[in-house]
Formats: sequence, C-alpha cells, structure tokens
Amino acid sequence: MTSPRLETRDLVRRFDGKAVVDHVSLSILPGNVTCLLGPSGCGKSTTLRMIAGVEQQDAGEIYVDGRLVCDTVTRVPPEKRSVGLMFQDFALFPHLSVADNVAFGLKGPKAARRKRAGELLERVGLSHHFDGYPHQLSGGEQQRVALARAIAPKPKVMLMDEPFSGLDNRLRDGIRDDTLDLLKEEGTGVLLVTHEPEEAMRMADEIALMRDGRIVQLGAPYNIYNSPADKAAVAFFSDVNVLSGRVQGALVDTPFGQFLAPGVPDGETVEIVFRPQHVTIDFDRNGRGPNPTEIAGTPARGVVRRARFMGSESLVEFRMDHDGQILRATVPNVFLPKPGTPLWLSVRRDRCFVFPA
Ligand SMILES: Nc1ncnc2c1ncn2[C@@H]1O[C@H](COP(=O)(O)OP(=O)(O)OP(=O)(O)O)[C@@H](O)[C@H]1O
Ligand SMILES: [Mg+2]
Repeated sequence: MTSPRLETRDLVRRFDGKAVVDHVSLSILPGNVTCLLGPSGCGKSTTLRMIAGVEQQDAGEIYVDGRLVCDTVTRVPPEKRSVGLMFQDFALFPHLSVADNVAFGLKGPKAARRKRAGELLERVGLSHHFDGYPHQLSGGEQQRVALARAIAPKPKVMLMDEPFSGLDNRLRDGIRDDTLDLLKEEGTGVLLVTHEPEEAMRMADEIALMRDGRIVQLGAPYNIYNSPADKAAVAFFSDVNVLSGRVQGALVDTPFGQFLAPGVPDGETVEIVFRPQHVTIDFDRNGRGPNPTEIAGTPARGVVRRARFMGSESLVEFRMDHDGQILRATVPNVFLPKPGTPLWLSVRRDRCFVFPA
C-alpha cells in the first residue's frame, strides 16, 4: 500500500483556552485532493498553518510521506517539510524575472533550474513570458506563475488556502483545472481550503467538512451531498426546506405523508430536510392534486408567493395551506406561476433526510 503524502493525527490548536482546531485527522494519498470546507472562522487556515510549520500545534502529529515532521517534541522547520504553499495573497518577487521567480526555490546548477522553470512555464501556458517581469502580467497570469513557483521544487504536499478567490469566474475555472492536472501528474497530495461548496465539489476527491474546529464529515463529494451528516451539512451545499414533527412509534406524520424515524424515542421532535430540487409541482384540479405514490408520497397544497428566474432554473416559493409554512421548489428552465396560484407539491421521499431536532 502507498503511504499517504500527508497525514495529520488529532491536531489540536487552542487560543485562549478554546480549541479552534479540535482533533483534526486527515490522510491524503499521492495525486489526491482533499478540500477543507467550512464557514469562516472554523479553523481551516489554522490547520494549514500548522501543517506548513508556521504555527505550532498544542497536540497531535503531522506526517509527510510517512515521516514525522511535527509533534510536540520533534519539529522539522517549514522549509524542510517538502510542503508547498499557495495562498490567496501570493506575491511574486517584482525584481526577478518570471523564470527566476519560478526557479527561486530550486537548488542545483543554474541551467537545470532554468530548464525546470521552462518546463513549468510551458505547462501553465506562459513560456512566452519566460524573460518577462511580474508587472507585465495580468492577475491570472501572475497567479499561474505563483503556481509554477510553488510546484517547481516538487513538494510532496501542496497546501492551498483559497488560492483562486481573487480571480474572475471564467479565468478561475481554467486555472483550477490546470492546477489540478499538474498536481495530479506530479503525484502531489493537495489540501485545499475553501468556503465555497461548488469549488470543493469541482476539485475534491474527498471533502472534509469542518465546523467549530472539528471535521464533522469526511467523504467523496457524492457521498457528502447525498448522505449528509446533519442539517447544516445539507444546508452548506444548497437551500433547504425543513419540516418538523413529533415521533410516534418510529414514524413522523407530515402533510407529505409519514416518514420513518428509526431509533428515535416517542415524543421527540425530528426535522425532515430536503432540497428545493427534490420538490415536484403539480397543477390543482378542482382542489385535488396528483395521487399519492410510493416514491413521491402524499402531495400537499400551497399557494405561490413568488417565482424567480435564476438562469438554468426557476425558484418558486410557496406558502403551504396546512400551516402557512414557506417551502421552496426549483424547476428546470422557466416556470413562473403567478403569485396566488394554488399548486400541489410532492417531495422525493428517497431524497429526504430525517435528523433529530
Ligand atoms: N493568532 C490567533 N490568536 C487568537 N485567535 C486566533 C488566532 N488565529 C486564529 N484565531 C481564531 O481561530 C479561529 C479560526 O481561525 P482560522 O483563520 O483558522 O479560520 P478560517 O476557517 O480560515 O476562516 P476564514 O474562512 O474566514 O479564513 C477564529 O475564530 C480566529 O479568530
Ligand atoms: Mg482562512
């Protein structure tokens, strides 16, 4: 078995007695990308800084390629960890040429260093700027040079802290994909910090969902999206609808039919969470809706509150007849019913998540 490029075991960092990184354990194989995804202040950058070696952990160990680089006794200095860094506020050296910027962290004879710089610049599509200077490049080009510079010494691990957030969308997609191709080719283990779920879904082999210093869920994007650990994990990736109900005999009654709540004691409240794209809409036929089915359950009626066109889909907001609750549904393409229109909603039962409230 290949050993992971990066492994952290129970990393802890406390500030003023509060653990802002709380037993974080991660393992990243060669050529794999793990995205550390979580809201502002949850401890993402602090985790990266400890791995980089610019901040000391209070407990836990860090291994690079199976070698211990840091625990509370051993401490390999940052420049000896074979860890590359790419942060949002990267800075090129203005007085060095593009090639010299890329070659900066390399050792050995000058010719070999320039050769490696040339290869990388070619790879990021900037060979023609080999002898140019940073001020002659656009923001996106500078970022690609910074990327080439970070990759040049062939680090075993690349730490990236929102490295693409300064770029406009179209430029960003291209640079993101190129970056990943390059890092995968080199067999680097990548830990990428982001607070954007789309970026994580697009880039990650594994997503580590972080909240209040802890990894609350770790898995492939598909699994995190489709088997979320809790309501917040659902809400992180999309808008959500929430119904709540009291459990009786492991079942919850709702206007959309009964849901299973296995293992939840009688009398406890649970929340049934589902995404707007899993709501289907049907027309009202003289006060009646579609027949219940096993997949869609029982339909419930609501009245359109507002409808908005969002580009690839339309978002329709309903006030439900049964209790006045607001629920949202998205419909592909254009569907813009007038406010006040009564319509029937059904929910894909296999796409509902039941969590203790
Ligand atoms: N040197 C420090 N002294 C005291 N508190 C700190 C220090 N560094 C970070 N913190 C606190 O630790 C918590 C986590 O900070 P961190 O920078 O890791 O968050 P983050 O997840 O990267 O957030 P963001 O998405 O906003 O960048 C924050 O509450 C922050 O205020
Ligand atoms: Mg941060």
